Amino acid sequence: MPFEDMHIISMKEFTRDMIDHVLEVAEEMEPIARSKSSSDLLKGKVLGVLFFEPSTRTRMSFEAAMMRLGGEVLSLGSVDASSVAKGETLADTIRVVAGYSNAIVLRHPMEGAARLASEFSAVPILNAGDGAGHHPTQTFLDLYTIKRESHLEGLKIALAGDLKYGRTVHSLCYALSFYGAEITLVSPPELSMPSEIIEDLKKKNIKVIEADSIEDAIQDVEVLYMTRIQKERFPDPAEYQKVANRLQITPEVLKNAKENLRIMHPLPRTNEITPQVDETPHASYFDQSFYGVPIRMALLCLVMGVFE
Ligand code: CP
Repeated sequence: MPFEDMHIISMKEFTRDMIDHVLEVAEEMEPIARSKSSSDLLKGKVLGVLFFEPSTRTRMSFEAAMMRLGGEVLSLGSVDASSVAKGETLADTIRVVAGYSNAIVLRHPMEGAARLASEFSAVPILNAGDGAGHHPTQTFLDLYTIKRESHLEGLKIALAGDLKYGRTVHSLCYALSFYGAEITLVSPPELSMPSEIIEDLKKKNIKVIEADSIEDAIQDVEVLYMTRIQKERFPDPAEYQKVANRLQITPEVLKNAKENLRIMHPLPRTNEITPQVDETPHASYFDQSFYGVPIRMALLCLVMGVFE
C-alpha cells in the first residue's frame, strides 16, 4: 500500500482498505507498546516534534511510539524559545526541521497549517491537529479503540458535546461511514454538527439521529463518544459561558445504558465526565489514550517505509 513518504493530513486521504491496514499493523505493535517485547524497527530514525499548541497525549504518545521502536525524537520545545519567536515562518521552520529528521509531527492552531507544511517538507508531515481542522491520528486511535473494545461494522454510536468545533468528531464520522455506522448526535443547539457533514453522511446512507439528551441517546448505543466544549475555539468568551456545563455524564445519567456501552473521550476532559464514571465498567477513555501508542507506532513505521 502507498504509505511510504505519505503526508498524513486528514482522513480524506484514506480508503477503507488503508484504514484497515493501519489498524492491523497497530495490533502487531500493541505488545511492543505494552513493553511485552522490544523492537528496533525505527533505530537510526529521528522524529521532528513541532507543537505550536499545548498537548499531553498526542505529543507524548508519538514520542513513546518512537522510543519504544528504538528511534529518537527531536523537539522544537517551547515555541517562545525557538526562532519562531523572532518571526520565522512556518514554511522556513519546516524546511529546516525536515533536514534534521525522517518525519515531522506538527500541531498548529491554524486550520490548514499541516497541508501548508507538507508543501515545504522533504519528509512526511503527520498532522497532530490544525486548529478546528483535522486530527487524523486521533481518529485512527479512536477507530482502534472501537475495534478493540466493541466492534466497527454497523456500530451504533452517540457523539456528544461540541460537535461544531470538535475536529475529532468530524473526522470520526467520516471514517465510520466506511463501516455503516448509525450515528446519534447530542449537543447544545449552538454547537450542533455542521449541516454539510450531516448531508455528506446521509449521502453515504449513514443513519443520523438527533437526540435531546445523553440519557435518551445512550439507551440503544454501544459507544458514547463525549467531547469537551473547547473554550479556546470560541471567538467570544460570553458565547462559551452560555454552553459550558450543559452536558455532563454521571453514574446517574448512565443508569439506562446497555451493559456493553463503552464511553470514549479524546481527553483532556474538564467536567463533562465526572470522576465517579471512571469506576464504572463503561469507562474506556484511559485505554483509548494508551491506544495512541500502537497506532502512532504503526503510522510512523508505515510512512518511514520500514513496514509495508
Ligand atoms: N486527544 C488529544 O489530542 O489530547 P492532547 O491535546 O493532550 O494531545
